[in-house]
Amino acid sequence: MSTLYDVAVIGAGPGGYVAAIRAAQHGLKVACIDDYAGPQGEPSPGGTCLNVGCIPSKALLQSSELYHALQHEGAAHGISVSGATLDVPAMMARKNAIVTRLTQGIRLLFERNRIAFFHGCATPLRCLDGIWQLSLSQHQASQTLQARHVVLAMGSRPRALPGVTVDNVTILDNAGALALTSCPARLGVIGAGVIGLELGSVWQRLGAQVTLLEMADTFLPALEKRLASEVRKALTASGLTMEFGVTLERVEKRGKTLVLHWQQSEQAQQTTVDKLIVAVGRVPNSDRLDIEALGITKDARGGIAVDELCRTGQPGLWAIGDLVRGPMLAHKAMHEGIQVADAIAGQPVAPVDLSAIPSVIYTDPEVAWVGVTQALAGVKKGSAPFGGNGRALALGRDTGRCTLYVQEQTDRLVGAAIVGPQASELINEVTMAMAFQASAEDLSLTMHAHPTLSEVLHEAALAADKRAIHG
Ligand code: FAD
Ligand code: NAI
Repeated sequence: MSTLYDVAVIGAGPGGYVAAIRAAQHGLKVACIDDYAGPQGEPSPGGTCLNVGCIPSKALLQSSELYHALQHEGAAHGISVSGATLDVPAMMARKNAIVTRLTQGIRLLFERNRIAFFHGCATPLRCLDGIWQLSLSQHQASQTLQARHVVLAMGSRPRALPGVTVDNVTILDNAGALALTSCPARLGVIGAGVIGLELGSVWQRLGAQVTLLEMADTFLPALEKRLASEVRKALTASGLTMEFGVTLERVEKRGKTLVLHWQQSEQAQQTTVDKLIVAVGRVPNSDRLDIEALGITKDARGGIAVDELCRTGQPGLWAIGDLVRGPMLAHKAMHEGIQVADAIAGQPVAPVDLSAIPSVIYTDPEVAWVGVTQALAGVKKGSAPFGGNGRALALGRDTGRCTLYVQEQTDRLVGAAIVGPQASELINEVTMAMAFQASAEDLSLTMHAHPTLSEVLHEAALAADKRAIHG
């Protein structure tokens, strides 16, 4: 007779591992099944985020920033550095060590929380008398697991581009682009979205000539035009070439190189590159489920349809993270993991506010936003530049600004867009202020330590009431 679990979580990405730990904290008997394999075939919980997403990309962004700073930023400080050299395998080893530390840390957390972790592939089959039956395949053997609740946290994978086959040697997806062992001289990127911009920046700073080909006409549509064009200008000045309104016709292999054939404004163009990253979005892993047999449905994006509490409509069957609606972000997946575990434990839970999820692009300058980011009717703005901020000047990072969006009638903060240093950290202050329904005045009455970058937010709050001190 197999063990009966209270909760079986399929997938140990940020959604799944957090759901499993939270459920165990509630005293529930939990199993978590994940099939991700590390370089030696070893279990590597953490999903896309830890293995081939958030964490390795930020590790490489940091290394490439340091390399770039050593070469280009010392002089302004009166420091000269010569002979900076690049050892990409060593850079990758550092990145891999960070990944391993975190993925193996999850295994320790599982042990500490008495979570049964299975390295293999799980499929929910059916529900019999309120008990879900799951098949578990491990090393060519299979067994059945039983659980009262199943949390589907199976994540997403790169969207394929018809006619362009990723081999992770010359044509790369995110995993390949995070594992190159040398810097290509010429790098093409299809898609100027989040991955294209972040990984394009990494390899551009390390010395590649990077060309991003983007289908859309607009850049960073989440931001107001003026702010988006500030970012575009800064990234172009740093050396990224970006082409918009592009139709990729075909990718031709010519010896060791690739020739990209593309059209723009009906003009045929060609770009020769040594490597190509394809980053045209991600698709939920819902095709790994028998949707019909489970009695659940897909949403418009091809993910699992769920309500505001991540319920699939089938009792005891939940779905979270990239597999369901909303932005494909790790913190959103983690938040849903906690929400679902709490709901299973019978705790009161509030729906995730999908309109108040912070987003960040870790370029230089960083770009971050939350909530309303356009000047809608009834919404006023307060904006302040980093150019007048002492800390930003000391850091040598004075490009960009903080813009707060404020409801005219109530003075409530409804959103923010930040372009500049540590935008990724600063956005959390606004997200928290919004969660507490703070007004712009609340922010302006809060003392901010000096000199800090967050003083720009304080100044933007004052500007919303036309009382900026330094503006
Ligand atoms: P995933 O992390 O995809 O995990 C799902 C896990 O389930 C995987 O391990 C998968 O192998 C496993 N699985 C699937 N099916 C089965 C099955 N049947 N049986 C067993 N296991 C199964 N987000 C951010 O918020 N910040 C960032 O900076 C950021 N950077 C990113 C950079 C890159 C290059 C990429 C690609 C993504 C990035 N993301 C970032 C997005 C983030 O990685 C995802 O939103 C997040 O990982 C989704 O978490 P998840 O738990 O839903 O799924
Ligand atoms: P994306 O949706 O951010 O960008 C894809 C881009 O490709 C879009 O601009 C789209 O217009 C373009 N595109 C689509 N088809 C195209 C074609 N045929 N030719 C040219 N351009 C085309 O997706 P991306 O960059 O793949 O990232 C996937 C997701 O991963 C993100 O949406 C985000 O949720 C997550 N992510 C988050 C990060 C973060 O939080 N910092 C970092 C990286 C990824």
